[in-house]
Amino acid sequence: MNRTHTLYVFLVILMVIIIWLLNRNSKYGEETLLQSVDLGSEKSRSKISQNPITPIKHTKHFMVSAFMDHRFNEAIRVISIIRRDSLQPLSCIYCYDDICQAVNAEVEIHSDHFGFPFGASDILCKVAKTQTATRVTISNGSSMLDIQNMDFLPIRNTVEKETFKFNFTVCISNLFGEYNNVLQFVQTMEMYKLLGVEHVVIYNTSCGSDLEKLLQQYVKEGFLEVVQWPINQFLNPSSGWNYQVHKGDLHYYGQLVNLNECVYRHMYQSRYVLLNDIDEIIMPYTHNNLTLMMKSFEEKQGSVGVFLIENHIFPKTKFEDSGKFRRPEWKNIPGINIMEHIYREPDRKNVFNPTKMIVNPRSVVQTSVHSTLKNIGDVYRVPFDICHIVHVRVPLQGHLPKEKLYVDKRVWDFEQELIPNVNNTLCNSGLL
Ligand SMILES: *[C@@H]1O[C@H](CO)[C@@H](O)[C@H](O)[C@H]1NC(C)=O
Ligand SMILES: *[C@@H]1O[C@H](CO)[C@@H](O)[C@H](O)[C@H]1NC(C)=O
Ligand SMILES: *[C@@H]1O[C@H](CO)[C@@H](O)[C@H](O)[C@H]1NC(C)=O
Ligand SMILES: *[C@@H]1O[C@H](CO)[C@@H](O)[C@H](O)[C@H]1NC(C)=O
Ligand SMILES: *[C@@H]1O[C@H](CO)[C@@H](O)[C@H](O)[C@H]1NC(C)=O
Repeated sequence: MNRTHTLYVFLVILMVIIIWLLNRNSKYGEETLLQSVDLGSEKSRSKISQNPITPIKHTKHFMVSAFMDHRFNEAIRVISIIRRDSLQPLSCIYCYDDICQAVNAEVEIHSDHFGFPFGASDILCKVAKTQTATRVTISNGSSMLDIQNMDFLPIRNTVEKETFKFNFTVCISNLFGEYNNVLQFVQTMEMYKLLGVEHVVIYNTSCGSDLEKLLQQYVKEGFLEVVQWPINQFLNPSSGWNYQVHKGDLHYYGQLVNLNECVYRHMYQSRYVLLNDIDEIIMPYTHNNLTLMMKSFEEKQGSVGVFLIENHIFPKTKFEDSGKFRRPEWKNIPGINIMEHIYREPDRKNVFNPTKMIVNPRSVVQTSVHSTLKNIGDVYRVPFDICHIVHVRVPLQGHLPKEKLYVDKRVWDFEQELIPNVNNTLCNSGLL
C-alpha cells in the first residue's frame, strides 16, 4: 500500500515535469541545446572582449554588440557584419556564471546592403531561459573545447526599463576622414540642446584636429558619447552608398551597423532616438522644442513608434544678404556658419524627399537610413510644416537663383541663446 502510493506520487511528479518541459519548449520555441558545459574553475579563463569590432574566429564575419531582446522572448541579438557570400552554419555560445551552453544561431542579413560584400546583420540566439546569460560569443561550431580562447561579448539590456535616463538622444553614424566642419557641428549641437536633446552619440573612425578639440569638450561636459569605430582596421569601408560607384567592402563606413547598434544601445536609456547625419538638424517648426512636439504626437498618434522627417536642402553656396550673422569672432573657425544659409531648395516634381527619423527605440527591430526595415507599431510621415530637417550642404539644385528658393529663417528664432552658447563652447574647447 505504502509502496504503491510512493510510486504513484513519483509518477505524477514525473508527468508534471515532462508536461512542463514540453510546454516550455513549444511555448517559447527555444532552440535545442547542442552542448552544455560547466566551466567550474575555468570561469576566469573566458575572456570578455572590450573591442568595438570582434572577428568571429574561423570565419570572414564580425560581431559588434550583444543585446537581450525582451520583445522576442529574451533572445540574444548580436549586431554583426556578415560576409554575404560566405554564410556558414554558426552557433551561439552563451554563459551565466560557470555554465555555458550552445545553440544554433539564426542569421538575418538586413535587406539594405546596397550590393556590398558585407552587410549589417543580426545573429539571433534563442536561449534556454534558466537564468540571465551575461556573455555570448558566435562560433563556427558548437564545440566548447577552445572556450578559453574565445572572445565573449557582454550582453547588454538585460534589464527591461520603463523610465529612461534621457528623453532625446541623437545618433550620428560615423565620422571619418579629416572632417573638420567645426562651426556647423557646434551650431548643430547647441541648437539640439535648445530643442531638448540631452545626449548625442557619434561613431568615430577619424576626424580633423579642430573638431577633435570640440568633441573632447562635449565628452567632458557629458553631452557626447564617442564610440570608437576603427572599421578601417578590419575592412576596406566604402565612403559612399553605391557599390557600383564607390566600391569597397561595406556601405558607408558601416553606417547601417552603427544606426542599429545605437538604437539597441539606447533602448532602455532614451525615450526617443533621432537618427540623422552630422550636418542635419531635425527642426520643429510649430513647437518650441522636441519635447512639446513629441507630446502632441503622443496625444494624437499614440500607436506610432517611427516618425519620418523630410530632409530639406539649404545650399551652402547661397548667403543671406544682411550678413548680420557673419560674426568676426567666428572668422577663424573652420566650417559652415548655418545662420548665413536661410535659402531652402523647393520640392522637385517626381523626386520624393528622403527622410530621416525620430524613433521610439523599443519599436524598432531593424533600421536602415531613411526608414526602418522591421518595426513594431505604426509609422507616421510628419507633415513638412510641423517638422523638417535643416540640412546646410552643397546644393542639389545649384542652378536655381535665390528668387526660386524659399526663405526659411527658423534657426534665427534661437539666436538669443544660440550665439552665446556657441561662443561659450568654442571658448571652452580652446578654439576661441
Ligand atoms: C571551425 O573552424 C576550424 C578552423 O578552421 C575547423 O578546424 C573546424 O572544423 C570548424 N568547425 C566547424 C563545425 O566547421
Ligand atoms: C523628460 O520629459 C519629461 C516631460 O515629458 C520631464 O518630466 C522629464 O524631466 C524629462 N527628463 C529629462 C531627463 O529631462
Ligand atoms: C520646451 O518648451 C516649453 C515651452 O516653451 C518649456 O516650458 C520647456 O521647458 C521646454 N523644454 C525643453 C526640454 O527645453
Ligand atoms: C577619433 O578617432 C581617432 C582615430 O582613432 C582618434 O585619434 C581620435 O582621438 C578619436 N576622437 C575622439 C574624440 O575620440
Ligand atoms: C562671443 O565671444 C567674443 C569673444 O570671444 C565676444 O567678443 C562676443 O561678445 C561674444 N558674443 C556673444 C553674443 O556672447
